Amino acid sequence: MLLEVQQLSKRFGGLAAVSNVSFNVLEGEIVGLIGPNGAGKTTLFNLIAGAFAPTSGKVNFAGSEITHLPSHRVCKAGLARTFQIVRPFGNMSVIENVVIGAFARLQVRAEAYAVAEAIVDQTGLTRYRDVAARSLPIALRKRVEVARALATRPRLLLLDEVMNGLTPTETREIMSLVRELNASGITILLIEHVMPAVMSLCSRIVVVHHGEKIAEGPPAEIASSPRVIEAYLGEEFLIQ
Ligand SMILES: Nc1ncnc2c1ncn2[C@@H]1O[C@H](COP(=O)(O)OP(=O)(O)OP(=O)(O)O)[C@@H](O)[C@H]1O
Ligand SMILES: [Mg+2]
Repeated sequence: MLLEVQQLSKRFGGLAAVSNVSFNVLEGEIVGLIGPNGAGKTTLFNLIAGAFAPTSGKVNFAGSEITHLPSHRVCKAGLARTFQIVRPFGNMSVIENVVIGAFARLQVRAEAYAVAEAIVDQTGLTRYRDVAARSLPIALRKRVEVARALATRPRLLLLDEVMNGLTPTETREIMSLVRELNASGITILLIEHVMPAVMSLCSRIVVVHHGEKIAEGPPAEIASSPRVIEAYLGEEFLIQ
């Protein structure tokens, strides 16, 4: 078991953003986390990645408890995440954004740059290496976000809506990147509203609604679950 989420809860004042959610991710899997807007998906990522302390519950990663570790320690343990709202650093170029990720693990500048250069190439950003990241269109900013996370050399990568706002072609490109990363040994947990992509990428899907897990299973089972259709897929599926 690479990731174990055990009875995790998070309250914001009176709001139960995440309630008693448990699920596991096995090494090598691509697991999807879906649910309506406000269901608690990003909050779950924040709890797993150490951005928020949970109200209760536990997170284990690679056999160790990481529940109360600060995010930089979680990252060093091999768990990286992208942010739903992409915010490249200041006026920094693509390579500079990515090298920040590499510095999470490497202190020597030349070594960090070597890792960042390789990842810029791997993520199809070579042409934009020296461009200010925030001047790029959304699809490329999402890639920079993935590249920055990858530069920390994760075993588990959490992707928060990296396909949101992309054209069908851009979506296909990012899907093949996700598959390549997974084939290279990185386990992936992804939040996504683009259902055909989730269904085709993931071996397993976890569904949350009003902070609670309402279903978990292989894509075909999730797509035909009356409870999931009622809570979420009904409308969303028709839009795609
Ligand atoms: N820092 C915070 N303080 C207070 N409330 C928060 C905070 N972060 C999230 N929430 C609330 O918690 C609930 C879950 O939000 P969350 O961002 O996890 O949803 P989500 O499933 O990621 O939704 P979306 O699909 O729209 O991104 C929402 O009601 C949100 O307003
Ligand atoms: Mg979210």
